[in-house]
Amino acid sequence: MIKSICCIGAGYVGGPTMAIIAQKCPNIKVTVVDLNEERITAWNDKDVHNIPIYEPGLSEVVAEARGRNLFFSTEVDKAIDEAEMIFISVNTPTKTYGVGKGMAADLKYIELCARQIARVSKTNKIVVEKSTLPVRTASAIKDILDHTGNGVKFQILSNPEFLAEGTAVEDLHSPDRVLIGGDSSEDGQIAVQKLVDIYANWVPKDKILTTNVWSSELSKLTANAYLAQRVSSINALSELCEKTGADVNEVARAIGMDSRIGSKFLKASVGFGGSCFQKDILNLVYIAKSYGLNEVADYWEQVIIMNDHQKRRFAKNIISTLYNTVSGKKIAFLGWAFKKDTNDTRESAAIYVADDLLSEQANIAIFDPKVDEKQIQYDLNYLETRTNEANKNGISVFKNPYETCKDAHAIAILTEWDEFKTLDWQNIYNNMLKPAFVFDGRNLLNKKELEKIGFVYQAIGS
Ligand code: NAD
Ligand code: UGA
Repeated sequence: MIKSICCIGAGYVGGPTMAIIAQKCPNIKVTVVDLNEERITAWNDKDVHNIPIYEPGLSEVVAEARGRNLFFSTEVDKAIDEAEMIFISVNTPTKTYGVGKGMAADLKYIELCARQIARVSKTNKIVVEKSTLPVRTASAIKDILDHTGNGVKFQILSNPEFLAEGTAVEDLHSPDRVLIGGDSSEDGQIAVQKLVDIYANWVPKDKILTTNVWSSELSKLTANAYLAQRVSSINALSELCEKTGADVNEVARAIGMDSRIGSKFLKASVGFGGSCFQKDILNLVYIAKSYGLNEVADYWEQVIIMNDHQKRRFAKNIISTLYNTVSGKKIAFLGWAFKKDTNDTRESAAIYVADDLLSEQANIAIFDPKVDEKQIQYDLNYLETRTNEANKNGISVFKNPYETCKDAHAIAILTEWDEFKTLDWQNIYNNMLKPAFVFDGRNLLNKKELEKIGFVYQAIGS
């Protein structure tokens, strides 16, 4: 029985997954470590509502376990030394330099973790890949551990995480499945069983799937590629619906009722965002290419091409509808996060739509219930399309949706926050310039109600 766990990386995955393990396994000491002091300080904030990641229900879980058997710390070496099992949950972004730039996963943080584990470990350890990694990464980790370690034994497991942001606590409490990949040797299987035993504290045994390491690594990339493909497929059809008079919501409903297709992940939108879909598909494409499988690579790359098109055409439509110019016009953005119920903005469609409109000299007013101005400016500056000063001058960030929309020429809905549905839309209409346009990038609002008020309303795919 494992008594002590360390998790390297206190981000969107490390934080919530370890909080749930600690909640469900009070006899295991769980220490989450990170190099980022600010993040760790926030995880330790006396007021649990100030933890750095917004997820419904997460602060309650942290309140229950923190200080009992859940700890957040910057003392990485100490936590590695004390743990029997070490989860690696660091970021694996797309490479921005060198070979594989813009496609391959950057594994430098993973390698640093492996070297640190090797240097510090004085007892046998089970190392668990929680980060999403290219297939066969475990063999590189093993190589580093075995060649730079102190002669202690390491077992490497792959245990990819399938939680979605915004529903992380729910997904972790009742996962569709838990996947654990391990070596077929006796020691490998003992390690697999130790991790199975941890999850078995709250996950039914038939939902805990064990496979070989390579299947587990590849299944994670594949799951994200399939999910993203569904969004790109419905988004591709949304454009055809707009041309033909079909309504994408009706089409989605009609096909989703076929149990072989299923109803989930068929919401047409301004395009998928988030930290993983794009990076994981690019990684899959890169892996396929590196094996010379060009048709396989092209097949999956099309999911990204379609998504880029969907974001771009949303911005283009705003410009053409507003009489081919948005220069000097106030465009109100409701939402900046990549989906509702999260403060995460990585790869959010809003960033790209804003970027296109700023290039047309629009003034963008933004409101998101969980994202602050500093983050929005960071996201735009990161693209390096124009100077930071120009980004700053082009946007204004508000704390209230009514101020955001006042005197605007148009409203663009970029995130499907529930609270946008119940705004006083009549009041918003009264204070806008006319004609008052709404571009609903999430098909969130009721077309008939908005048109009755007087808005010119455009949704995706109808
Ligand atoms: P994140 O950027 O939120 O968190 C990663 C953390 O690791 C950061 O706080 C960083 O400071 C820390 N870190 C990096 N190198 C370190 C080191 N050497 N020592 C200590 N700390 C270090 O990233 P995330 O969203 O939590 O994603 C982590 C991994 O999980 C990625 O591989 C991602 O693909 C995967 N994943 C993410 C999600 C999701 O919903 N975000 C879901 C499933 C899988
Ligand atoms: C996704 C997967 O759903 C998780 O299983 C996986 O663990 C995770 O990636 C990961 O590896 O990081 P996440 O990106 O957090 O989770 O959120 P999703 O709910 O998948 O949404 C991704 C994007 O697709 C969002 O921008 C969302 O608005 C968009 N989307 C989703 C649509 O446009 N339409 C849909 O029908 C569904």
